[in-house]
Formats: sequence, C-alpha cells, structure tokens
Amino acid sequence: MNVAFRRRLAHKFAHVCVNKSFGKLVLDDVDLVYTKSLSLKKLILSGQELKHLEVVPEFCSHDEEREIMVEVDRALRRKRYEYDHWDDAIHGFRETEKSQTAWNDTNKNVISRLSRQIFSSQADGNPLLNVHVLDLADNGYIKPHIDSHKFCGSTIAGLSLLSTRVMRLQHEKDITQQIELLLLPRSLYIIRNELRHNFTHEILLECNNSVFKITEPPSRRVSLIMRSQPDNIVKTT
Ligand code: OGA
Ligand code: MN
Repeated sequence: MNVAFRRRLAHKFAHVCVNKSFGKLVLDDVDLVYTKSLSLKKLILSGQELKHLEVVPEFCSHDEEREIMVEVDRALRRKRYEYDHWDDAIHGFRETEKSQTAWNDTNKNVISRLSRQIFSSQADGNPLLNVHVLDLADNGYIKPHIDSHKFCGSTIAGLSLLSTRVMRLQHEKDITQQIELLLLPRSLYIIRNELRHNFTHEILLECNNSVFKITEPPSRRVSLIMRSQPDNIVKTT
C-alpha cells in the first residue's frame, strides 16, 4: 500500500499569495523562519515547554549526509518517481519506510540522534519505529495537507538532505496565519501540537511567492521523516 496515501489528508485550496511584509524571526542566529503574525510568533516562541516549532541547521555533517544517501539510493533503486494523480498531496516523488534499526551502524548513530532530539520529552510522544524516506524529484513538490491523525500523533519532524526547499505552514481556517521555513540541506525541522494539528504544511517547488528567494532551480531533495505514534484522543477540529 502507498504510505503517502495513508498518511495525508490533502487540502485542495489554492496556494495563497504571501504578504511581503513578513516580520523576521531569528532562531539559532540563522534567519530560517518567517511569520507576519504576532500570535504566531508567540506560539513559536512560547518556550521550551510547548516547543511547537524547532529548526536546527546542520543537524548532520556532509559525510553523514553522503552515507545516508548511499543507503537511501539502494532502498529506492527499483522505484520510479510518481506523478500520477493530480489531486494527490505529493507530485514527483518516490518513498519507502525503513525501520530505525535497519540502517548501517554509521547511519544508526544519526537516526538515534534524530530520535533523541525530536522526542526529548514525554510530551513529544513515542516515535513510530519506521523512518519515512521521501525523495522529491527535481520537479517534485508537496501540496498543502495535514498528516492523517489516524497514523500520526502530535509530532512530525524531517531531516532535509541534498537541496534547499521552502516549507510553508498555514492555518487551516485563517489564511493570515502563515509561517515559512527555509529548509537547508542537513537541517532538521520539528512541528508539534497546534502547528501539526491545525496548520497545513507543504514543500514549494518555485519560490516566486515566498519570502525566501532561492536562486538555483529546484533540485532533488530527500527527507527522513519521523513521526510520533497516533494519539489516543483524535482531535477533530
Ligand atoms: C509528508 C510530508 C515533508 C517533508 O510526507 O507528509 O509532509 O519534509 N513531508 O518531506
Ligand atoms: Mn506531511
């Protein structure tokens, strides 16, 4: 069964133009996160306890990235990029799942570091055993969607490899509530709680309407995604 299809609830509203007067938020001395809404800034900066959003640049080294890609390429070698259905959440992708324990020893180190960073406290839930590997082609992108609550709890995190893309988070009901993340290669993002439950997330192809101006044409990007186990109480609003 197609893992993507099980995990994503696609949202079909059109892309919304970004207001260029976004304020700037500085995390870890790198300008990776933009939002124009004061309440969102408060949400993001609401302290260690809630930790709705984390972005960690250079989470792994170039060597670690290369070593992970050797195993990823081997796991994906028989799969073709899928472009089939216009209404699926993802366009131009291949994917697989690989148990946290199934990586070689070098990569297992990175995976367990990832797991420790993402699931650092009880409130973050317990990780699903499988790491979801998503490979976007040069022309691949992810439309706005919310991951299905049936298969995933309050925490979603991704280690981005190979190329820079922009992730946009947008409140389901209030289009003024929008955040953009610059996902550099080897950076880790973590979205939790409200940002995971009530905001759609997407990976842009072109950055024409983004606050981030990436000059290189979009190219292949691989992400290792870890999610928490589904919550017992499913939020429906
Ligand atoms: C997904 C998804 C984001 C990423 O697979 O549902 O949103 O970082 N992926 O690749
Ligand atoms: Mn998703």
